[in-house]
Amino acid sequence: MKDFVYYAPTEVVFGKESEEQVADLVKKYGGHKVLVHFGGQSAKKSGLLDKVCNLLKQGGVDVVLLGGVVPNPRLSKVQEGIDLCRKEGVDFILAVGGGSVIDSAKAIACGVPYSGNVWDFYLGKADPECYLPVACVLTIPAAGSEMSDASVITNEDGDVKLGYSNAMSRPKFAIMNPVRTFTLPPYQTAAGVTDMMMHTMERYFTHDDDMDLTDALAEAVLRSMKENVFKVLADPCDYRARAQIMWGGSVAHNDLTGCGLSSDWATHELEHELSGMFDATHGAGLAAIWPSWARYVYKENVSRFVRFAVNVMDVPNDFTDPEGTALKGIEAMERFYHAIGMPVNIHELIGKDITDAEIKEMVRKCSRGGEATQGSFKVLYPEDMEAIYKMAR
Ligand code: NZQ
Ligand code: ZN
Repeated sequence: MKDFVYYAPTEVVFGKESEEQVADLVKKYGGHKVLVHFGGQSAKKSGLLDKVCNLLKQGGVDVVLLGGVVPNPRLSKVQEGIDLCRKEGVDFILAVGGGSVIDSAKAIACGVPYSGNVWDFYLGKADPECYLPVACVLTIPAAGSEMSDASVITNEDGDVKLGYSNAMSRPKFAIMNPVRTFTLPPYQTAAGVTDMMMHTMERYFTHDDDMDLTDALAEAVLRSMKENVFKVLADPCDYRARAQIMWGGSVAHNDLTGCGLSSDWATHELEHELSGMFDATHGAGLAAIWPSWARYVYKENVSRFVRFAVNVMDVPNDFTDPEGTALKGIEAMERFYHAIGMPVNIHELIGKDITDAEIKEMVRKCSRGGEATQGSFKVLYPEDMEAIYKMAR
């Protein structure tokens, strides 16, 4: 078991009508003039955006609006937000949306007080001294950004998608009303569940397998998401199932399922190149990569894959054939992905064959020009990345 620090300072306000508390919460965390940051259509269409803005104004909080965040949020929108916050003297950023909006808010929050280019942080050239406070009203359970320390931004100059982690970026509060997720289309619902399950699996596939409590928590999250996704696909307004998924998304990525373990993140890193290059939905991209990653690495620790197969995917344990059991777990995961409408390879994700040149470019980016490895369950060198992309094509 590894030593660890568990830091999850976000105040979670969960349940029906929880957005009613938004003005009090903003004031509690020092906000007077708020940038309300949002995406394309959904928050406007549902009336949530108007409701939040009205509640803030009634509570004596000034509001500045900036919408238009797209999935795989762009650096140019972040820059627009930084300029606007400076011009308006904004002192708090409230994201109304999902991971893309929250990540864009986090990037703006560290960019406003910084005199250089905010992209420096994502390139690892600098670290921010401070952030404006960030909070969110979550509308899609998926990325876990509502409690995580990470943000992922795409620089349109070269379609480079990079993440940056900093404890100061963890939202001050997260308002989560499962009713607000009833409008999610099936594809986004399924991609969200795939992403949150992967946040747990990236921590679960490890060689530090002596932390029973963390493993049991991880398996409970995975089993619950696996069951509840079918309930919400059958009935999008199933409050109980939507609520399990919404809380599951936060638990999956607030580090609780990683305490005492090292984590891998190779599937995420390989996927970021796919969503960066093809503007694919992140969760669906993970489903397209994971089976190939799993088959490429499972021999590094067969017993871990057997445990996953048996405890999560309900595969009978054939004690005479551990490798067979491990592989059946991977096949069961593929069947699950297909059952919820997710792809299991790149062709299914992007609807066409990926070329060798595109794979080479993704390997170049994922290995930071050939300099970096990815993952820890099996350390991946550029040739491993290429092999996995080719298996997944
Ligand atoms: O833009 P609008 O119209 O709001 O539509 C959004 C968007 O098209 C829609 N949506 C959101 N809430 C809805 C809704 N539609 C109907 N009803 C609602 N209630 O859903 C679409 C996807 O939204 P997005 O925010 O992009 O989804 P998600 O939360 O999956 O975020 C994905 C981004 O998060 C990054 C990903 O790489 C990707 O860029 N990640 C961030 C992480 C973090 N900060 O810790 C970790 C993750 O691993 C991930 O990498
Ligand atoms: Zn993810």
